[in-house]
Amino acid sequence: MNDYDSFAEVYAAENEHSLMNAYYERPAMLALAGDVAGRRILDAGCGAGPLTAELRDRGAVVTGVDASAAMLALARRRLGDEVPLHEADLRDPLPFADESFDDVVASLVLHYLEDWGPTLAELRRVLRPGGRLIASVDHPFVAYTIQEPRPDYFATTSYSFDWEFGGQRFPMKFWRRPLHAMAGAFTAAGFRLVTISEPQPDPAARELFPDDFHSLSTKTAFLFFVLEALAP
Ligand SMILES: C[S@@+](CC[C@H](N)C(=O)[O-])C[C@H]1O[C@@H](n2cnc3c(N)ncnc32)[C@H](O)[C@@H]1O
Repeated sequence: MNDYDSFAEVYAAENEHSLMNAYYERPAMLALAGDVAGRRILDAGCGAGPLTAELRDRGAVVTGVDASAAMLALARRRLGDEVPLHEADLRDPLPFADESFDDVVASLVLHYLEDWGPTLAELRRVLRPGGRLIASVDHPFVAYTIQEPRPDYFATTSYSFDWEFGGQRFPMKFWRRPLHAMAGAFTAAGFRLVTISEPQPDPAARELFPDDFHSLSTKTAFLFFVLEALAP
């Protein structure tokens, strides 16, 4: 069981319409992905499948993988029986043949992993050469500045805080690392850094979330990468 099994329904409901997910993270991922018609895309850490569904609706041939059975049950409900969904831990070898995908999207999942090496090696393996890994993570500066006392910026350190849903608190653990360690992990796994992005939220959210919109427009939150899989 992973943490998300205990609050899958409430998390998915929040994610569906929230400023951070629906008006910031997801539009940014879709913009980076561009035209995906006909592309074979793995959604790594697909959760309840909101991005998987958007990509499918744009003509991609999608597959989802996540470690949470409860999140995958919600994804199944959303996506129907046609989309392959796999329960698997991204720290382990993936159940896909080499070069199975044109793109991998990994939304807000890598920061749950202490060691990116084995995971990125697997994502590289299942991508065809020239394929893309498009990933979003907690911005390394945010995770660094919210912690008291400040950790060693140059170390990879875990941090924890409680998420609150419906009056219940759920302790969450994340891993932060410096920017150069992210870039180094991608390069070591056989990726070329194409784009690093700190996007703005969708302007449509300005009236829906006036205060939070201003805050999000003027502070870092997530960091986005596009990486090209190099030939082995
Ligand atoms: C913040 S949610 C994002 C879900 C989805 N990508 C989205 O944007 O709606 C993080 C997801 O990563 C999954 N996850 C966390 N650690 C994982 C791991 N080691 N292997 C596979 N999935 C993991 C969780 O179960 C959860 O569904």
